[in-house]
Amino acid sequence: MELVHRPRRLREGDAIRRMCRETRLSADSLIYPIFVEETLSGKRPISSLPGQYQYGLDCVTEAVEECLAADVTRCILFGIPAHKDPLGSSAWDPDGVIQKAIRAIKAKFPSFYVVTDVCMCEYTDHGHCGALCGHHVDNDKTLELLAKTALSHAQAGADMVAPSDMMDGRIGAIRRTLDENGFADLPIMAYSAKYASAFYGPFRCAADSAPSFGDRSGYQMDPHNRREALKECALDAEEGADILMVKPALSYLDVIRECSDAFDLPMAAYSVSGEYAMIKAAAQAGFVDEHRIMCESALSVFRAGASILITYYAKELAAAIRKGEIG
Ligand code: PBG
Repeated sequence: MELVHRPRRLREGDAIRRMCRETRLSADSLIYPIFVEETLSGKRPISSLPGQYQYGLDCVTEAVEECLAADVTRCILFGIPAHKDPLGSSAWDPDGVIQKAIRAIKAKFPSFYVVTDVCMCEYTDHGHCGALCGHHVDNDKTLELLAKTALSHAQAGADMVAPSDMMDGRIGAIRRTLDENGFADLPIMAYSAKYASAFYGPFRCAADSAPSFGDRSGYQMDPHNRREALKECALDAEEGADILMVKPALSYLDVIRECSDAFDLPMAAYSVSGEYAMIKAAAQAGFVDEHRIMCESALSVFRAGASILITYYAKELAAAIRKGEIG
């Protein structure tokens, strides 16, 4: 058989396969989500996310120690406050759950990188991502609340803020407020193309943030849309976002590819709670090999063009990277 091209030559053995890999992974690209519950002491397992916990303020540094032991040096914080009200006022309380968590982490681990999720849904008693006007989330009024919240995270010592609310103009509003208050150097990671997704189901249980009526389709993106993601990214970039994000990850790899091709900002992807929970459940039933599915799913997100991955598997992935099982 006279074949000139034999792609299999580059697959014959581990040494050549590893040398020719097109996608490389690093623990530096991983961000681990940490849930902090204001009324809790100790930690409590999250039933919808096997292996994940809500941490009390007394043991949030334990979560950080576990990250550091696994080579993960970056987290994104989510807060579950003791008090909820229509505006979500504990979100910008200087002594709110996130502000206290940041200070506790930074006191013990000053160089651990702390990103904060900026959104109102865990703080409002109705569970929507902003202030209501009737049954409608009032965009412009919410911008003020988000900007106040982001500023209070910055003042508490956050390294980066990540608005996930999908209000129009929030990146500009937050950028201006940060700049006017001495935080011109604090970066913003924008949840730019955040879809109204069923994949967030297990998170809402973990963060106690399900909307009490209706859904989030009035502000999060319609999963049918692709070009609209480019529009959202363009607006966020224009308003001063430093990093763009697509969320969820696995069902939106086409969007990650397209946005990472179109913009010269770092592209993050959030492998959300439903992605994690589905792998866990299938593995528990004995249908799939959890470790291999975890590795393959993560690397597909990087192959699609992301350079940052937020994932509940961050610690396990970092271990797999260290052992050379991936990347
Ligand atoms: C807050 C927020 C959500 C997630 C991240 N930030 C929930 C939502 O929009 O309903 C989802 C994360 C996940 O599912 O892992 N708005």
